[in-house]
Amino acid sequence: MMIKWNWRPQIATVVVVVVVVASVIEEGVMAVDVEDIEVATSSQECQHSGRTLICDAKDRTKTIHLRTSPGPEVEKVFLYNARKVEVWSSVCVDLEVKQVEHVVTVEDEENSGKSTNNCDNMGMWSYKSSLYSLPPAVNHLYAEHSTLWNVSLEALGGDLTLISCHVKLLQINQTVEQHTLRFHSSVIDSNVRLHLGNQASLYIYNTTIQELHPRALVASGSAFVHLSGGTGMKTPHDIVVLQPGALVNISEYEGDVRFVVQETEEDYRLSTPSIH
Ligand SMILES: *[C@@H]1O[C@H](CO)[C@@H](O)[C@H](O)[C@H]1NC(C)=O
Ligand SMILES: *[C@@H]1O[C@H](CO)[C@@H](O)[C@H](O)[C@H]1NC(C)=O
Ligand SMILES: *[C@@H]1O[C@H](CO)[C@@H](O)[C@H](O)[C@H]1NC(C)=O
Ligand SMILES: *[C@@H]1O[C@H](CO)[C@@H](O)[C@H](O)[C@H]1NC(C)=O
Repeated sequence: MMIKWNWRPQIATVVVVVVVVASVIEEGVMAVDVEDIEVATSSQECQHSGRTLICDAKDRTKTIHLRTSPGPEVEKVFLYNARKVEVWSSVCVDLEVKQVEHVVTVEDEENSGKSTNNCDNMGMWSYKSSLYSLPPAVNHLYAEHSTLWNVSLEALGGDLTLISCHVKLLQINQTVEQHTLRFHSSVIDSNVRLHLGNQASLYIYNTTIQELHPRALVASGSAFVHLSGGTGMKTPHDIVVLQPGALVNISEYEGDVRFVVQETEEDYRLSTPSIH
């Protein structure tokens, strides 16, 4: 439909036509599409301003689809108040979700592997949301009052912060260097792997790690681990492996933790858990 808006006398007629079309769509089989929001700078539900794109689903009944990166002019996408957000796996743009019940990644068959190959940096921010999987290009993360089912990253390319979160599984495959991890008032069900190397810092405050896999938490090089507040690592055999150079501060820690000091691969010396 072509609409020439500057032709004033016809505006009233045009509005009537649009309303009729919309009500026909709502009653027909297209109803589902009317509820969904496609993330794009041209989308009516999204506001493009400067380098940001904000799409607000408002009533938490709609699904928002983020199928492709919105373009070089957009550096960060904000998605609010949706029932569900679907992010295609090839997407590479900073992403913030707020009040979203389900955030899922959809495998992009056509562009399989594109994200991790062509994306240097993707940050994710989550508030009061539930994330079932992370888009594969995500390499740094900030989450508050959120549930994260699987924080599984190949490498960390920035900081990782969890505040009042529930994480089911945490795994960072490559040794973390330089970046800072903060776990505040959170519960991590299973820590599969978190190895800290040069200049990496880990701050754990009032956080419980329910299950620590063998050798899951290793600090080496000039890594720094700071434990404070209560709670801790739950089961008695759970240990933190310390290698030469690592520094640990437990001066304000009230929970239990067991450290293993490892000089070489063969030499283990157990330190006692008498902290209280
Ligand atoms: C977690 O995510 C990683 C990477 O996407 C995947 O390889 C792994 O199978 C997932 N694990 C679970 C338990 O879903
Ligand atoms: C990390 O390593 C595990 C085990 O080798 C693998 O199953 C998983 O897919 C890897 N995760 C990522 C995000 O590369
Ligand atoms: C400690 O964390 C729990 C959640 O695991 C939270 O309910 C509680 O308020 C926190 N306490 C402090 C002192 O931060
Ligand atoms: C250890 O942490 C406490 C606060 O929890 C701080 O006051 C102290 O300076 C830290 N010590 C070192 C050596 O970093």
